[in-house]
Amino acid sequence: MSEGNHGNQGKLSKERPPQEGGSRRRFIGLATAGALAVSGGALGLMAAVFFKPRVTYGPPPKFRVGKPASFTSGSEIAYQKQAVLVRREGNRFAAISTKCTHLGCTVNATDIGFLCPCHGSTYDRRGSNVSGPAPSPLLWFQLSLAPNGDLVVDKDKKVDPGTYLEIQA
Ligand code: FES
Repeated sequence: MSEGNHGNQGKLSKERPPQEGGSRRRFIGLATAGALAVSGGALGLMAAVFFKPRVTYGPPPKFRVGKPASFTSGSEIAYQKQAVLVRREGNRFAAISTKCTHLGCTVNATDIGFLCPCHGSTYDRRGSNVSGPAPSPLLWFQLSLAPNGDLVVDKDKKVDPGTYLEIQA
């Protein structure tokens, strides 16, 4: 009899309920998976922030300069931030780049064209390079009218030098 009891006690002490061990393993597995998912998400977010380009794009290439009537005939108004000069000759309007084609300094309008203060390049009124190190003419940009009648310069659209927008202003 004592032999039977001894056998039962040994058997009872070795056995565990199978569900208790399984649920602990499952809990540890879920916790690990959850921790990995959270840290993976955090790493993904950090990578997205890290690789996102930090670029300043400057002023938009398309911008309004107001009503044609606000320009007097013969005027040339420079927009420093956009590096563009808007010229009115009679009822014709043009938008010309003021960015020197040598190294990008801002050129100044003169009576006979443009002069770069950096290395002395000169351009005629049409923007053709005349002297100095500038390798090419100044760019001309497309001008158009917005629905409200404002003049719009689009630096993404280049036009042939000498291209004017004619408006009855
Ligand atoms: S940047 Fe204009 S001449 Fe050099």
